[in-house]
Amino acid sequence: MPSQTAAHAGDVQQIVEALAETRRRTLALVAHLDDATLETVHSPLMSPLVWDLGHIAAFEDLWAVRQLGGGELLRPDLAVVYDAFETPRADRGEIPFLRRDEALAYLDAVRERTLAQLARGGADATIHELVLRHEQQHGETMLQTMELAALPTPPDMLAPPLRPGGRAGATPGAGGLELVELPAARVLLGAAEHGFAYDNERPRHATDVRGYRIGLTPITNASYLTFVEGGGYERREWWSREAWAWKQEYDIEHPAGWERDGDGAWLERRLDRRVPLDPDAPVVHVSWFEADAFARAHGARLPTEAEWETAATWDHATGAKREAPWGEGDGHGRANVDWRRYGTVAVGSYPDGAAASGCLGMIGDVWEWTASRFDAYPGFSAYPYREYSEVFFGGDFRVLRGGSWATRTRVATAPFRNWDHPQCRQIFAGFRIAKDI
Ligand code: AVJ
Ligand code: FE
Repeated sequence: MPSQTAAHAGDVQQIVEALAETRRRTLALVAHLDDATLETVHSPLMSPLVWDLGHIAAFEDLWAVRQLGGGELLRPDLAVVYDAFETPRADRGEIPFLRRDEALAYLDAVRERTLAQLARGGADATIHELVLRHEQQHGETMLQTMELAALPTPPDMLAPPLRPGGRAGATPGAGGLELVELPAARVLLGAAEHGFAYDNERPRHATDVRGYRIGLTPITNASYLTFVEGGGYERREWWSREAWAWKQEYDIEHPAGWERDGDGAWLERRLDRRVPLDPDAPVVHVSWFEADAFARAHGARLPTEAEWETAATWDHATGAKREAPWGEGDGHGRANVDWRRYGTVAVGSYPDGAAASGCLGMIGDVWEWTASRFDAYPGFSAYPYREYSEVFFGGDFRVLRGGSWATRTRVATAPFRNWDHPQCRQIFAGFRIAKDI
């Protein structure tokens, strides 16, 4: 079980503020939706939104209250209902989860207990960080559900404007087809020893990466559209056997949410809106199967996780690892740091975010599928509970890296490892391609 990390007095205030800010966003995502919309199972892939709300509260009570302070849960009767592992997504429509008003009241009541425990026992840097990031990760999950079900856009969520340092117009990198060449190197992978990290990001370890080439930017809508219109979904030879079977069974012909208007122009869905496909924005809502087929069609492949992290963090000139692609500091190199803004911007819009490798847009905008399956790093040990990562190792999950526009900057770190099944398309995921030298 986790050790109590000694906290400085000032940390309590920071944690209280971060908890409050995180909660404002959670509530803003659902405030405009009616009870029925929140309680409906929109897709067997996803929970009803109101389940996420109750689950956020239950997780906070478990860790920030009971784990740190001892005693009983506020609602021991709900422990199974809100245990993600005992009640998988497909079953969540069947169980007696709290309705909207009850879930909101539960969130408030647990938060009061959390604040009382903080006042009594101080801040636990690790446990409070876990709780904060958990709620933030579920915010992204809720946005996936909302997009899948074309639910109304929260009133103040609009397309992101270019922030200072952003570059409008020219999109470098030939729609993601221009590759950067990186030499063979012995590199370090994983999170630093100090500071918060998820168990699956540790331990930091050395590995040999061969010379390879990797996309300067993620693949754009324009490049992907060329693949779609060039018969990419009909060319058997570009698809793995498994991917072809999936594509045939579900009649997949283009990324999720794409459609043509009456004049034949392509639109993409952003929650309940239809917007013209932005040729320079990264393609999003493709499965691993589609990303893999696109890469094969270009004589390429998806980068391995080690190659992705090397391109994002390794400085080949100095032989040192950067904690973020752009060096130190948080998030100035990514497109979307404002949670009220919805969606992606043109790839390469933030040259300040370039990694030492030259690669752009490694963090934010879209998750990037990698070739790698989700497995333990050598020397892994589960922390603080096996169901965060360990139980998912060794399955058919593929790793995604980098974070999307919907991922808070706190969560979207360079060593962060996300994972999902290769057929999943509800994630805000695109990809970049790679080649052997
Ligand atoms: C890391 C996004 C795969 O949603 O299953 C949320 C995050 N873990 N609650 C997931 C998570 C526990 C996890 N992913
Ligand atoms: Fe969870």
